[in-house]
Amino acid sequence: MSTPAAALDLARTGALAAIESATDLDLLKAVKIEHIGDKSELAKASQSLGKMEPADRSEFGKLVGAAKAEVNAAFEAKSALLEAERDARVLVDERVDITLPYQRVLKGGLHPLTILTNEISDLFIGLGYRVAEGPELESEWLNFDALNIPTDHPARTMQDTFFVEPLAARLVLRTHTSPVQIRTMLENQPPIYVICPGRTYRADELDATHTPVFSQVEGLVIDKGITMADLKGTLDYFARAMFGPDVKTRLRPSFFPFTEPSAEVDFFFNGRWVEWGGCGMVNPKVLIACGIDPDEYSGFAFGMGLERTLMVRHGITDMHDIVEGDIRFTQAFGTGAR
Ligand code: PHE
Repeated sequence: MSTPAAALDLARTGALAAIESATDLDLLKAVKIEHIGDKSELAKASQSLGKMEPADRSEFGKLVGAAKAEVNAAFEAKSALLEAERDARVLVDERVDITLPYQRVLKGGLHPLTILTNEISDLFIGLGYRVAEGPELESEWLNFDALNIPTDHPARTMQDTFFVEPLAARLVLRTHTSPVQIRTMLENQPPIYVICPGRTYRADELDATHTPVFSQVEGLVIDKGITMADLKGTLDYFARAMFGPDVKTRLRPSFFPFTEPSAEVDFFFNGRWVEWGGCGMVNPKVLIACGIDPDEYSGFAFGMGLERTLMVRHGITDMHDIVEGDIRFTQAFGTGAR
């Protein structure tokens, strides 16, 4: 029959052997439950103390205490060793080489023309204007007739204008943003303060300075007592926002059927005069056609090319760069890949 001391020694050596053979933290945890936990032989030996005679109890108690201490110390040592091993292994297994090339995700961005359009819209919204829009496929009537452009005007030929089939529908790709003036005046009563940026089309070949698809921004103001001084002041403000505080503008007499008087607006930038666009006081005939009383209201309109504005402002010398969509060009504007 085994004595309590022999049973205790068996429990102790069993526990020590199990701890010794545990090769990872999971196994060590199982060893703890089996050899150190409440239901282990070691715990039973400890519990048996309660049933012993006081004399035996103090003797055996020392043995139990020593055995438990030895087993616990072995467990702690092994636990520390396995944790250190695991930590070292994780450092190797989960190592991230931050010098490896990463998967670059190209972020989309706005085209410089769109950035410019937004900038101009913001500028005029700040002056109390509204942004007006119209279709790029426009009725011939709104693109030409309502703007007082005569039926035999050379701009109306197929050499200049894209007519869209079926021809009987009399639809054109708008040649300028001015039809939006008409749409705005037909739909709204004065006072009118609108800016209309948009895409326009003319039958030109793509070369360094021309593109058949281009962009304009149109401005239209109709109110009481509007004069050419208001037009000039607005153009000056616009030009300074585009080209810097020192830019100068000038108006040269010109002709547009929908404005009277009409002018070309130029700006002086980097030592030379640059043509910017057309402008003038809205022709009373156009006001009448739109149901606005020219005795009560007057107004001005202007329209300029956005490509030209972008090219001069940023020293772009070839139109191809703007239209071809090469991101090496747009990246210089903070747009595109990163
Ligand atoms: N629509 C004219 C053009 O495209 C420009 C313009 C706009 C002229 C408004 C006068 C007033 O050439």
